[in-house]
Amino acid sequence: MSATPASAPRRVENLHTDKGKVPVYATGLVEQPWDGYSADDHATWATLFARQREVLVGRACDEFLQAQDAMGMTPDRIPRFSDLNAALGAATGWTLIGVEGLLPELDFFDHLANRRFPVTWWIRRPDQIDYIEEPDLFHDLFGHVPLLMNPVFADYMQAYGQGGVKAHGIGPEALQNLTRLYWYTVEFGLIRQHDGLRIYGAGIVSSAGESVHALESAAPNRIGFDGERIMRTRYRIDTYQKTYFVIDSFQQLMDATAPDFTPLYARLASQPSIPAGDVLAGDTVSQRGSGEGWANDGDV
Ligand code: PHE
Ligand code: CO
Repeated sequence: MSATPASAPRRVENLHTDKGKVPVYATGLVEQPWDGYSADDHATWATLFARQREVLVGRACDEFLQAQDAMGMTPDRIPRFSDLNAALGAATGWTLIGVEGLLPELDFFDHLANRRFPVTWWIRRPDQIDYIEEPDLFHDLFGHVPLLMNPVFADYMQAYGQGGVKAHGIGPEALQNLTRLYWYTVEFGLIRQHDGLRIYGAGIVSSAGESVHALESAAPNRIGFDGERIMRTRYRIDTYQKTYFVIDSFQQLMDATAPDFTPLYARLASQPSIPAGDVLAGDTVSQRGSGEGWANDGDV
């Protein structure tokens, strides 16, 4: 069952302090304040939607584009979660829930494990159209929600949530390993389709610049999916990725992550992490990046 919306909507973003940006974790669920969206809010959605759909034809995977159409996402107005939930519920049993911003990890995992996907209720301001640090409604809804219509990907997300609850109980290193897997699949994954490489990661499909960069730039590495390798690989949160990992199918992702990770976490604990841009001897390389424009530090 979905949890009961409790609080009045607030917009929660990172705090800017003398130590830099500190994420604020808000746990409250909110009813989407749809009537409260301004004309500017709807226009921001329309602008971003139209721009991304143009970029994504022939770049996003077929499942993504078809699902957006099937669930009735259009540029006309910010979708109502309740409308999308009707389509999602029928397709895969997922439910969207409204949240104020980033959730604490365990809360997030628990929602996923119960097929609830948290969506930030607010959309970026017009001056943030090209870049915003934290996930907003556009990133969450446009980027993440369509693939929840796909039965295999829908199961992967739930399994990830269940794995997250477990990793949280094991400790911070296990959690870091699992977070890298999310980053390089759910957020920044590429998939090989009949006519070439396509995007499925939400962090890419919701970014005009990275949608082109991920597929066409000579700078990044593009390497075949390897779960254990990914779980050791650091990543970038402030620049385009240095490395993208390519799956052949969502079923491959599901099968590769099905085994119990507990022994894997133990093994990984004694191994060093891999810098974001490194290529290893065992990698299946479809492109070795030129590294052009890479920052030398800042992997996390
Ligand atoms: N099988 C993983 C585990 O035991 C859970 C998982 C599934 C993790 C899918 C990521 C994706 O922890
Ligand atoms: Co995201």
